[in-house]
Amino acid sequence: MKIGLITGASSGMGYDFARLLDKEELDELWVVARRADRLEQLKTQCKTPVRVIAADLTKQEGIVQIADCLQAHEPRISYLVNCAGFGKFGDYTEISLENQLSMIDLNVKALVSVTQMALGYMDRGDRIIQLCSSSAFFPLPYLNVYASTKAFVQHYSYGLAEELKPRGITVTQVSPGWVQTEFFDGSQNDTSIHAPKKYSPMYRSEQVVSQAIRDAKKGKSISVCGTFVKFHRLAGRFAPRWFMKSQWRARLK
Ligand SMILES: NC(=O)c1ccc[n+]([C@@H]2O[C@H](COP(=O)([O-])OP(=O)(O)OC[C@H]3O[C@@H](n4cnc5c(N)ncnc54)[C@H](OP(=O)(O)O)[C@@H]3O)[C@@H](O)[C@H]2O)c1
Repeated sequence: MKIGLITGASSGMGYDFARLLDKEELDELWVVARRADRLEQLKTQCKTPVRVIAADLTKQEGIVQIADCLQAHEPRISYLVNCAGFGKFGDYTEISLENQLSMIDLNVKALVSVTQMALGYMDRGDRIIQLCSSSAFFPLPYLNVYASTKAFVQHYSYGLAEELKPRGITVTQVSPGWVQTEFFDGSQNDTSIHAPKKYSPMYRSEQVVSQAIRDAKKGKSISVCGTFVKFHRLAGRFAPRWFMKSQWRARLK
């Protein structure tokens, strides 16, 4: 049984990955998030049978739920998409320690756990897609912990891609700029005076996701959608840190 396993599929880019991977002749789509009702909606959107795994991936029990399901059905994972993630704006006083650690639990620990588990069910030609972010391109004060989790995903994905070459499994990190999703509903603390003045340019989720799937099929190690973000990536590599910091500061409230 060939499946697509997608975390964070109850909204935003994860939801669109599920809808677009529906075209890939898979036997099942396994979708993971906490909001089961949202995941159930995908059954009406997709012709591929959808298996709902309602799980909180910041908790060990959530990871075990996926492990149990994999053990019980022994699928071949043709596509793994790690989309579950969240971010918060603010300085170190504005974001509680609980939220800071929760970002690390979800964006880093859960992503590594799910990837590691999935690799036991993947083979030549299969694809891993990791949701990274343009915030990984350089240090970002006031989005610091979130951006640092994405810097981890960036390095981890490049390294894993190399390790998996002999097995013929590709790893594509998707590094979008701002994307119109529910991400922004939870990202801005009421008290935060450090959020961006405006989110521009703002990309459409489907645009980012369809490019990500195309790039994953080509075996690219990174998928970057939009000229602005491509420029941002180059600047992150070649411009001095003080310059990038001043550009970012100018965009904040
Ligand atoms: N939007 C942007 O501007 C942007 C830019 C760059 C990168 N990204 C990254 O893209 C990925 C997808 O985000 P999005 O923009 O599509 O945002 P979104 O619409 O808020 O989607 C986030 C997904 O993560 C799931 N999730 C959150 N906490 C979870 C938990 N504890 N356990 C399991 N699932 C959890 C949510 O489902 P439940 O709430 O139902 O659990 C939801 O399905 C994230 O990794 C994000 O960091 C976003």
